[in-house]
Amino acid sequence: MVHRFTSRFCFSACLLEFLIQAGFVGVLHAVTAPAPLMRGDVARLTRGEMLMFKGKELTGAAKGQEFTVLKTEAAVVYVAFYKEDGSLIAGTLPTAALEPLPQNGWSDILRGAEAFQEQRYDEARRFLTRTAEDAAYRALAGAILTRVSGAITAATAARSADPARAATVRQACVNTLQGLRDTAEQLVQQGYISLAFALEEGTDRLGAQALGNVSAVPPSKTNREDLVSRAAIATRAVAQYRQASGLHRLVQASGAVREGLKADPGRGELKSAQVRLQKDITEAETHHENADKMRQHGPKGVIHALTALEMGLKVCADHPKLLALKKEMQSSFEERTAPQVTPAFLKAAGPEVSAKAMEEGRKLYTNRCTECHDLELLDSRTVSAWRDIVGTMARRAKIDGSEQGRIVAYLAAAQRGLDADQ
Ligand code: HEC
Repeated sequence: MVHRFTSRFCFSACLLEFLIQAGFVGVLHAVTAPAPLMRGDVARLTRGEMLMFKGKELTGAAKGQEFTVLKTEAAVVYVAFYKEDGSLIAGTLPTAALEPLPQNGWSDILRGAEAFQEQRYDEARRFLTRTAEDAAYRALAGAILTRVSGAITAATAARSADPARAATVRQACVNTLQGLRDTAEQLVQQGYISLAFALEEGTDRLGAQALGNVSAVPPSKTNREDLVSRAAIATRAVAQYRQASGLHRLVQASGAVREGLKADPGRGELKSAQVRLQKDITEAETHHENADKMRQHGPKGVIHALTALEMGLKVCADHPKLLALKKEMQSSFEERTAPQVTPAFLKAAGPEVSAKAMEEGRKLYTNRCTECHDLELLDSRTVSAWRDIVGTMARRAKIDGSEQGRIVAYLAAAQRGLDADQ
């Protein structure tokens, strides 16, 4: 991915040169590099990474995991991360490992409302205008854009009105602010809590600035306390859903989605997540059914059952039925992932391996490689692919070169044992 980015950049640069020489300067904007990530963007990891907090490794994050961007520096991006106790921190990830998530009508409308809330008015207009391209949100975005634009214009006029017209201009501004309060109330009625909350706070700020006095701003018609807490629940649910589904903990992710939608039924990311999660959980359940059926069919069946079980857990790592079956099949699972170093094991491994080295390799493998995920079936990849993956995971597992060698030697011998069994 990093590589692709670099080559695309080179491609653009070369093309740029050509265009300049050919006199096509007018179309240069079409070949500029992708915009850097901005606050409020959602970014996705293009590779597995460590999330850092205050210079220390906080947790592993999987390829594909999504994060809300808080701030961008040259080499790192600060992202929102909820710890297990529910507290929010700003972790950092390398800029080179992140790509922006494609935008859609919902992300644009939310970004537009949030930009208004934070008084970035040009950005608010830009995002709300772009939402008009999405049929599903066109009407909603249009209504908000009209009100927001009108209020921003009226507020600007009120601030610079000449004294003779001041009263009229201020009244016009109050009217547009009143319009925003009405819109927020309607949004609450339609279940768009986060949007309503952003508009209400944006109205407070715009109004106070334009009229110079908070008490001159028309009061809101919504229950603000309720709105604040529901919008916060929804925002937290979005982050928790993303974190859990990044780790394939889909049952946990569904719980977060349900809680978020209860607080904010209009929250678009959660609505589409619900559909996706349901589909994936159903797929995991199918793997469970297959595994359960196959294990009834003798030793060969058990091997197929373990494969189905592994596939199921890859889709959904926290499905209770899959976890229960895994527990039931624990001893078969161990035999196919990290077999004990027995005399039979050593015989199959060959005369060149020592029992001590095998025990050490197994211990490292079962202790250090299970911190973040399950072990995979031994025959899921070749020895050389195992060597590669152990090398890739070494930094995460904090193991040095000789420890890597011992793990790979153990895995290679264990694979020979499997082949001998069959
Ligand atoms: C600190 C957490 C952590 C530790 C420790 C860890 N892994 Fe991983 N591993 C991950 C994550 C996260 C993924 C998900 C894929 C990714 O994004 O890299 C993963 C993926 C994998 C995969 C699947 C890769 C694929 O492409 O299908 C294998 C196999 C694997 N790890 C093996 C190991 C081995 C062997 C060790 C011990 C040397 C180990 N892991 C230690 C976090 C860890």
